[in-house]
Amino acid sequence: MSKSMLSKSLPVELGIELGQLEEDGQLRFLRTIGGPQQAHTSLNGRPVLLLCSNNYLGFANHPKLSAKACAATETYGCSAGASRLISGTMALHVELEEKLALFKKTPRALLFNSGYVANLALLTTLVGAGDVIYSDALNHASIVDGCRLSRAQLKIYRHGDVDHLGALLREGAASFKRRLIVTDSVFSMDGDIAPLPQIARLAKKYDAVLMVDDAHATGVLGREGRGSAEHFGLDYTDIDIQMGTLGKALGSCGAYVAGAPQFIDYLVNKARSFIYSTALPPAALGASLAAIDLLLEEPEHVQRLRYLTGYFRRGLEGLGITVGDDPTPIVPIVVGDPHKTMELSAWFLERGVFIQGIRPPTVASGQSLLRVTMSADLTSADLDRVIALIAERRDDFL
Ligand SMILES: Cc1ncc(COP(=O)(O)O)c(C=O)c1O
Repeated sequence: MSKSMLSKSLPVELGIELGQLEEDGQLRFLRTIGGPQQAHTSLNGRPVLLLCSNNYLGFANHPKLSAKACAATETYGCSAGASRLISGTMALHVELEEKLALFKKTPRALLFNSGYVANLALLTTLVGAGDVIYSDALNHASIVDGCRLSRAQLKIYRHGDVDHLGALLREGAASFKRRLIVTDSVFSMDGDIAPLPQIARLAKKYDAVLMVDDAHATGVLGREGRGSAEHFGLDYTDIDIQMGTLGKALGSCGAYVAGAPQFIDYLVNKARSFIYSTALPPAALGASLAAIDLLLEEPEHVQRLRYLTGYFRRGLEGLGITVGDDPTPIVPIVVGDPHKTMELSAWFLERGVFIQGIRPPTVASGQSLLRVTMSADLTSADLDRVIALIAERRDDFL
């Protein structure tokens, strides 16, 4: 058979693979939200309570963000028109980077089009062959991919285990040219917080660069929602590189990297996903600018998120369901079996509550879970309703 005949059979082969995924309970499909991203929205034409978004502060549909996004579009148009190094750097990019640096209390900040590409950029640019990366076992897929692409040697330490990290560093850190430790601050599926002060101490001891992914900490952790550094009382001399996203709690899209000027200038010169990609559009920049102002002017959003998180976690504890005690809005309820997880997700949806099931490879085999997330625009009455539904299926979670 000729090569072209073989490639024509590819759709059939892919169909077989998809069938296998379905049999294993791992087939993914898209669900379409018909209204804005907010606690009360619609799915398939029916009202639904959204309990799986990362819109933690309820900013995604906030009128102040929408107004500034519209104003930015009216003034600057719809597109940046080019990559940043060509002609895509607009006044709003500079304004947002300056605001982000102040917000993160770092010398400089640089925008990226998404958190995924920011992590790829950092890991493939700052380390390479002859270097070593120490990465938490549960780091986000974008970090995993960045590590793989970097060509540095990869050493994975057990999740949150500083003793294991210390042992790996002791074993042979000195034999590498550069050492980089990378961790999520808030783990995206488990919602727990990395022990950053201890990790930062190890980074100093072994002369390693510490890179922290604040995707789920930005707008969430710290008194003013500035992230994990604020939460732990650390700064950019402890955490060399803070990366965070604008599309989660901040209700817009894109990402930032914050740190010393040399990191930023180096990324501008070397990071391919920064250099070869059209810059963020004015609407996203306007929304992000408004989000940071709103966060600092109205700290009640962060406080409300924390209150609701505590309320929900206590409700589950009251049912005897163990969910861990980290004060983050990501509340995983482990089910184990992927089929069962999706059956439960569908059961909640039939009752007007959208909780997404998370299956391998996003979580380890046997660890499928319902990832419930809190948002500041929920009410305690909403949560009472959800807790009552969870109580009906309590036996499935014990
Ligand atoms: C921990 C973590 N890092 C990075 C990303 C990627 O961010 P973005 O969605 O902006 O690409 C995500 C998003 O899902 C995440 O959870």
